[in-house]
Amino acid sequence: MVMIAPSLLSANFLRLEEEIKNTEEAGVDMLHIDIMDGHFVPNITIGPFVVEFIRKATNLPLDVHLMIEDPDRYIKDFISAGADFITVHYEALKHLHRTINWIKESGARSGVSLNPATPIWSLDHILEEVEMVLIMSVNPGFGGQTFIPGALEKISLLREMIRDKGLNVLIEVDGGIKIDNARKVAEAGADILVMGSGFYNSKDYKNLMKELRATFEG
Ligand code: DX5
Ligand code: ZN
Repeated sequence: MVMIAPSLLSANFLRLEEEIKNTEEAGVDMLHIDIMDGHFVPNITIGPFVVEFIRKATNLPLDVHLMIEDPDRYIKDFISAGADFITVHYEALKHLHRTINWIKESGARSGVSLNPATPIWSLDHILEEVEMVLIMSVNPGFGGQTFIPGALEKISLLREMIRDKGLNVLIEVDGGIKIDNARKVAEAGADILVMGSGFYNSKDYKNLMKELRATFEG
């Protein structure tokens, strides 16, 4: 079954606790939290301090997407704050293999993310080590951007690669996913769909989840 991970970036931060409760009650699978540093991406969001509060507000798995330079410096802090998944960017690391192992040793599940221009073969020697690959379907930095169609081919290629290697790696897709393209993304091979504006701009989260489930089945 396709999993849905709303991205809190598009939630109303003035009413964060209420937003989180309503998101959980809508029946989502995990909560996606975007961490931006103003260097790796041209935007700044939140740090471990806020993630710690989010952890107290929900039992949902916290899927922390680090769009920051030198993520090694902060991984431990995010895990202590309650992150279940830590995803780092391929483009941000010199020693990706070491970082991935470090995330796992620290007790979290590890993910690696690829920007739209980074080819799938970059994962050749790391796929065995990770629990999740996050394919960016927009250039990271902001919510509300348009889905880049080329991501679909990357998802199918990755699905094939995972199958050929006989691995059990989750494929997450992030950026520009809405009710009208969710099924296409899932059919290309995604396991987890991140939805920011597509989720939080809808009036009724429960109803949106119902509609989404129906699109996958119909
Ligand atoms: C973009 C973030 C996404 C973002 C997605 O850099 O990684 O998680 O919140 O938002 P939408 O779904 O609006 O594209
Ligand atoms: Zn994200």
